[in-house]
Formats: sequence, structure tokens, C-alpha cells
Amino acid sequence: MSKSPAILVTGGAGYIGAHCCKALSEAGFVPVCFDNLSTGHRGFVKWGPIIEGDVCDTKRLADAIATHEVVAVMHFAAFSQVGESVHAPQKYYLNNVCGTVSLLKAMLEQKCNRLVFSSTGAVYGNAGRDPIGESAAGVAVNPYGVSKWMIEQILADYRAAYGMNSFCLRYFNACGADLSGSIGELRDPETHLIPRAMMTLQGHVSDFAIFGDDYETPDGTAIRDYIHVVDLAAAHVRAIDALLNGSPGGRYNLGTGSGFSVRQVLAAIEQRCRALRGKCTELLDDVTCEVGYESAPDGRVRRWRRGWPRPTCAAGCMSGPFPAKGKIRSSPCRGCAAFRVYATPSSGMARK
Ligand SMILES: NC(=O)c1ccc[n+]([C@@H]2O[C@H](COP(=O)([O-])OP(=O)(O)OC[C@H]3O[C@@H](n4cnc5c(N)ncnc54)[C@H](O)[C@@H]3O)[C@@H](O)[C@H]2O)c1
Repeated sequence: MSKSPAILVTGGAGYIGAHCCKALSEAGFVPVCFDNLSTGHRGFVKWGPIIEGDVCDTKRLADAIATHEVVAVMHFAAFSQVGESVHAPQKYYLNNVCGTVSLLKAMLEQKCNRLVFSSTGAVYGNAGRDPIGESAAGVAVNPYGVSKWMIEQILADYRAAYGMNSFCLRYFNACGADLSGSIGELRDPETHLIPRAMMTLQGHVSDFAIFGDDYETPDGTAIRDYIHVVDLAAAHVRAIDALLNGSPGGRYNLGTGSGFSVRQVLAAIEQRCRALRGKCTELLDDVTCEVGYESAPDGRVRRWRRGWPRPTCAAGCMSGPFPAKGKIRSSPCRGCAAFRVYATPSSGMARK
């Protein structure tokens, strides 16, 4: 029997990378995670080997590609906090841009010429158009967006000069989590709207605020396109398939095509949580939880040490009993399933 082809996934221990590793595994590939665990989690790596390393380490990357006979790469490893990038642009250019050039060097050395690059809607800056077409890119307004835009230009040059085929997949806001309950959004500090709102409802965030309520939108708050992370992962796997079938790649937006304002998101969360309060009572078995928490004598969680609700439990579990210390849910609760539907409300891709 022939061996399953290996895909190197930089940043595979992170939120989106881990979901892509799962999707790759389900599609018959071996995801080889390459991650320095700067913001990722070892416990998210479940579908293939992990190589702990930094993408700036070209030799380690080249060795990984050679050892595992990697046929293509998915590249997620990056820093991605817009605000931080404004204050620390060097950190972003070094990690995102130099890290990518290092990766490309390793790929060229090993004659691996297929790449799916995790880009961002930030390459459009304040495009002010709806919908934003792919040709509107190039006006990024912060170093994070600029770093991604620079990488896209580099990839175009590598395609022309070296035949390095690549997809640049641009997305705006990933959300939701895999129904397994074992991977999801897990940041410290958390800056994203949906998990922060959930954490606020659970009492773990005391300073939740809406930033900006005077935008030219119906309710004054910013409207964004949210796409479910499992849908994102499926798109990344399709891009890998296309490259393996000879496609030269290209630049594509990934989104639902429908924006939701901050207030709309908060209202939906509130409504969903009210409806689900008290309904998520399943206690499920024995996956070890890497995030510590304390349980009260009656087995309920008293306090999360790091103030973090498990991602896939975020939608509806705040009132139900939680598993005993050291355990997390290993299968979906009703709240999570409901959240998945909510998270892709009108995309036509909602999963039940
Ligand atoms: N989350 C979103 O809404 C969103 C939207 C658009 C684009 N993106 C892009 O998707 C990618 C993944 O984002 P995420 O939300 O999963 O973030 P994340 O922080 O969870 O994942 C990033 C992963 O990359 C690893 N990493 C960072 N620098 C590295 C380095 N030098 N060497 C090796 N590993 C390194 C981290 O340890 C982490 O596991 C990023 O490139 C981001 O720019 C994310």
C-alpha cells in the first residue's frame, strides 16, 4: 500500500493550524506540525508528528521536509495581533516575513514547490467596499497586514522565478471550533470578540468593551465577516488538492459573504446562551485537559486558573456541571453544536 502523502503545517499547534491538521488527516494526508509553541499548544497536535522548531531555522525546516518526504506546505506560523504589530513592527516583520523567506529557502532546497499561505483580510486595509474583491488588496494599514501583503508579493515572485506554486487564502475572522471539543481558540491574553464575550459571560473577563460605536453601520459598530474554522480548514485542504493536481494557485478570499456587527454578534451570543442555560449537563470522559482549573468539592469548576473556558464549551456550558479536574469533554455538547450553526449563520455552509 502506498504511503499517505505528508503535508508540513507550520503553526500546526495553533488555532487554525490544528483544525487544518485534523482536516488533512481526515482527507488521507499525514500532517507534520512544525511549531515553536510561542502561541500554540502541544496538546492540539493529535493527527501527526510535531517538530518543535522555529520557521526562521531554515536547516531544521529543510530536514523536516526531507525526513517526512513532504509534498506540500501549509503555512500558518505568524504573529497576528494587529495592535501589537503597530507598537512592535520589527517583531512582525522578523517572524512573519523573514520566517516565510526562511521557509521558502528550505522548500526550494528540498524541491518542494507547493504552498498554501494563510493570509488575511488585513491586506485590504480600510477598503470601504462591500464585498471586497481580491484586486483591492495592497493598502494594508498596520504592520501585521503589511507583513502578510509583503509575503504575498514574495510568493508571486517565487512563482515566476522558481515555479513555486502557492495559494494565498485571505480571511477576516475565523471563529468556532471542532466538535471534538479537543481543539479551539485558546489565547492568553484573549483579544477576539467571540471568546472574550463568552469569557465575560462566564465571569472571567471584567473589562469587556466595544471598541468604536460610531462607524457608518446601522448600529454604529464594526461589521466583519466571520467564517467557521472547520470551513476554513476544508478550504485549505482543497487548495492542497488543487496544487497536487497541478494548479499554479492564486489569491482568494475565504468568507461567508455576510458581515455581522459587533452588536449583532453579542446579541446572538446572549440569545443563544439564554436558550441553552442549564441544558448542557453531559459529563464526558477522559481527555486530559492542559489548561488547569480547580474543582469544588461537588465536582463543579470553581475557578479557571487561567480564566479560560474550554473553547467548544463556550456556547452553552456555563451553567452546567463541568467534568472533574483533569478532564474535559471529549464529544460535543448541545451548546457547541448550536454555536457552530450560529457561527456561520447565512453562509450556506452551516453545519448541524
Ligand atoms: N484567527 C483569525 O481570525 C485569522 C484571520 C486571518 C488570518 N489568520 C492567520 O492565520 C494564521 C493562524 O492564526 P491563528 O489564529 O491560528 O493563530 P495562533 O497564534 O493560534 O497560531 C499561530 C501558530 O504559529 C506558531 N508560530 C508562530 N511563530 C512561529 C515561528 N516563528 N515558528 C514556528 N511556529 C510559530 C504559534 O506557536 C502558533 O501555534 C496566522 O498566520 C494568522 O495571521 C488568522
